[in-house]
Amino acid sequence: MNEYLQANQQRWDELAIEHQKSEFYDLAGFKAGKDRLRSIELSELGDVGGKSLLHLQCHFGMDTLAWARRGAIVTGVDFSQNSIALAQSLSEELNLPARFYCTDIYALPDLLSGEFDIVFTSYGVLHGLPDLKRWGQIIARYLKPGGIFYIVEDHPFFRVFRAKPEAEFKAERSYFFSKEPQRIEATGSYATANLGTTGVSYVWDHSLGDVINSLVNAGLSIEFLHEYPFAARAKFPFMEQGEDGWWRLPSQQHGTIPFLFSLQARKPV
Ligand SMILES: C[S@@+](CC[C@H](N)C(=O)[O-])C[C@H]1O[C@@H](n2cnc3c(N)ncnc32)[C@H](O)[C@@H]1O
Repeated sequence: MNEYLQANQQRWDELAIEHQKSEFYDLAGFKAGKDRLRSIELSELGDVGGKSLLHLQCHFGMDTLAWARRGAIVTGVDFSQNSIALAQSLSEELNLPARFYCTDIYALPDLLSGEFDIVFTSYGVLHGLPDLKRWGQIIARYLKPGGIFYIVEDHPFFRVFRAKPEAEFKAERSYFFSKEPQRIEATGSYATANLGTTGVSYVWDHSLGDVINSLVNAGLSIEFLHEYPFAARAKFPFMEQGEDGWWRLPSQQHGTIPFLFSLQARKPV
């Protein structure tokens, strides 16, 4: 791994410790049987019963284990040791069979053989990846002929904007990929307000075209691409949570920009 990925790995190890205590992840609720999966992936991916599912960038495995609760035969991968250790202990504690591997996604082929019915990844994964071309090849490598790749993820379009006071947002970042990552210094994360330390991590932006082309160039066929005007959490401070749990811009702005996309692609038989 290069210096950027090593810094990210260290940051995710710190975050895993805090995230398991966070309200956002509500680990106690999950242990008590509360669902972790959201309506988009549940309705679009459908019945996973009896299917083999590889979850890339699984963090500490709650979503992986949520798919196991629905009958999938699951394997989770993440490069944070603390995340994978917690995922393994949750699997044992909850008696939900799962295999977890701690590795950089780009080194996965050195560790894991086999092919899967479904490769799944979700919510906050792409900006940690410096190379989408290789990412697409790894996904294709792990799909059985006829197998499905499914992703639900932050839409790259809204990431261009920064929030301003009075419910305004302004374009401040490039929509397009640059090899040089953006350096982020933060005391908290999406799930925890303040860790007490300032962590450094690096992110890369990827356009929707890059996501699609990485999969097409790896030999997959795109079956759908959906875009949603709501988010899984408040991306700007003035967003409002609906009764359905999704976060939207205030009504006069709602629907102007996308916050999520989902995509399904298939490996030809
Ligand atoms: C935002 S989290 C995924 C969140 C997940 N959908 C959830 O809700 O728990 C991103 C995960 O990607 C992992 N990650 C980032 N870069 C990675 C890489 N190069 N290889 C493997 N895992 C990586 C991090 O350790 C982290 O657990």
